[in-house]
Amino acid sequence: MRSHYCGFVDTRLLDQEVTLCGWVNRRRDHGGVIFIDLRDREGLVQVVFDPDTPEVFALAERVRSEYVLQVRGKVRKRPAGTENAELKTGQIEVLGLALEVLNSAETPPFQLDEDELNEEVRLRYRYIDLRRPVMQTRLRMRTQISQTLRRFLDEQGFLDVETPMLTKATPEGARDYLVPSRTHPGDFFALPQSPQLFKQLLMMGGLDRYYQIVRCFRDEDLRADRQPEFTQLDIETSFMDEAAIMGLMEQMIRDLFAKVLNVALPATFARMSYAEAMHRFGSDKPDLRIPLELTELTDAMQGVEFKVFAGPATDPQGRIAALRVPQGGHKLSRKDIDDYTQFVGRYGAKGLAYIKVNQLDQGRDGLQSPILKFLPDTVVVEILNRTQAQEGDLIFFGADKAHVVNDALGALRIKVGVDLGLQERGWRPLWVVDFPMFERDPQSQRLMALHHPFTAPRIDDIEQLQNDPLNIVSRAYDMVLNGTEIGGGSVRIHRTAMQAAVFGLLGIGEQEAEEKFGFLLNALRYGCPPHGGIAFGLDRLVMLMSGAQSIRDVMAFPKTQTASCPLTQAPAPVSEAQLKELNIRLAPRAVNPS
Ligand code: AMO
Ligand code: AMP
Repeated sequence: MRSHYCGFVDTRLLDQEVTLCGWVNRRRDHGGVIFIDLRDREGLVQVVFDPDTPEVFALAERVRSEYVLQVRGKVRKRPAGTENAELKTGQIEVLGLALEVLNSAETPPFQLDEDELNEEVRLRYRYIDLRRPVMQTRLRMRTQISQTLRRFLDEQGFLDVETPMLTKATPEGARDYLVPSRTHPGDFFALPQSPQLFKQLLMMGGLDRYYQIVRCFRDEDLRADRQPEFTQLDIETSFMDEAAIMGLMEQMIRDLFAKVLNVALPATFARMSYAEAMHRFGSDKPDLRIPLELTELTDAMQGVEFKVFAGPATDPQGRIAALRVPQGGHKLSRKDIDDYTQFVGRYGAKGLAYIKVNQLDQGRDGLQSPILKFLPDTVVVEILNRTQAQEGDLIFFGADKAHVVNDALGALRIKVGVDLGLQERGWRPLWVVDFPMFERDPQSQRLMALHHPFTAPRIDDIEQLQNDPLNIVSRAYDMVLNGTEIGGGSVRIHRTAMQAAVFGLLGIGEQEAEEKFGFLLNALRYGCPPHGGIAFGLDRLVMLMSGAQSIRDVMAFPKTQTASCPLTQAPAPVSEAQLKELNIRLAPRAVNPS
């Protein structure tokens, strides 16, 4: 139906006839001449209709925005002074000779070039939203990214193997999406939170190197970088240790950035232990572009009576830390500080004490703070020394359980850094390593796996692991880029006894382990090679590389914050008959009133 894409018509085609198909981006009437900007995937071209061809002209008068047209016309130079340097096609225009309206369109619910579009409306009319050049660019980059990754892995001998979507729960820390089985009344499949166990079984099956670009499903609280269904680049290898796996993955990400963005990432990525990351940044995915760090004060506050600090100072799970905001921090107004106090409140912080360092040589008189009167001189001096405070700084304090302080000050560090324009440009990839095997759930006090229960501990000694589980590090690694965790993986447990011991520590009894993971425990007995792997969040990678603010903007059909789809209205009620077939009866309050 067409000879060229609209966006590809240029001076090389001067005086030639072209046939174009596309959408009406805009129609303008100019004193007896009609201009139509025709748009397709590749861009815009200006089509001109003049009254010399009356029938065509009359038809052109009736077209509206988003009509779908086929135009035959002749390429000519634009009159001098009317060129548009911002358009690829800006030197030429197409004189319309024939016009067919392939389809009309109702007035769209929003203008494609509107700045502040409501996301709900965008998602409801996603097919229109996707016509916007910015969306097209992002989805195009997404293809380029997945192709580049595939090509790299193909060249490295990885096999692309599909794994089941209807399966059994794989614990990755979220709730499962369940699918009722009709043929096994009362039983449910779970959609995979990741292909974790299948990729391990593939290693036991001798495939050696596996990858898959695969959909994963997690019913968890949603954020800008979390969706209920998302895509992983999932990878597993045999006979490679963490150094080899991390080396290869670095190479892959460097290759990706070079090919897609023409960006040279560092020859080796920085590495940091989990403990150091939490200590210095309050986060296991620190954004290294922000030149602010936390200062430890827990030990310095031991004797302090001030109630806000006294508790956390003596609580073995407590932490007191400071965040120094340099140069100009003291200019933050009362309102700014109130806003930040509210901000850290979202992370559970009960307040946000601060000291403004107005003058350094005036002792207490040079400082301004609601908590100063509670602190002895020695402590004030220690705070100023440790934070290396300078005149004009402001020092924030967090005092609480360590996880609250880390969450609150870790997030505040980023917020303040961005607000004050301190964030550096560029790409700061980082490996976070030496994660603890376990952490204690603050509520239930039970041990939980920091990565997942199939991650190998650094030590091989089961007894040592059982005696001191909280102090054993794992063979896990996360790849972090500019404050986003883009990938995570580990070397796996490949021996039955160790796997059983880890289940035991997690409070998964023998019977439960047998019911849930019997197939894995069995497989480990039949010649399981040492293996390990990683999964990258493809949506997050595309988001970062395309400069989008949310992974929703790099997915064709994402869900809303409440895990629904405004376009299809999913999830939706189903018929009584369907439920009956599945042996399901709804509890009264869940029954849809309609
Ligand atoms: P993990 O749970 O860390 O590891 O997931 C791997 C990567 O997937 C991305 N990701 C998400 N992206 C969007 N929305 C979500 N809800 C979401 N959850 C995770 C992140 C994350 O780094 N089986 C292991 C991998 C392994 O051990 O090999 C796993 O799934 O970028
Ligand atoms: P209060 O005595 O509760 O009014 O608190 C005195 C100062 O300490 C105020 O500036 C509070 O914002 C701050 N504050 C209270 N609780 C905490 C906390 N857990 N961590 C840091 N600062 C706090």
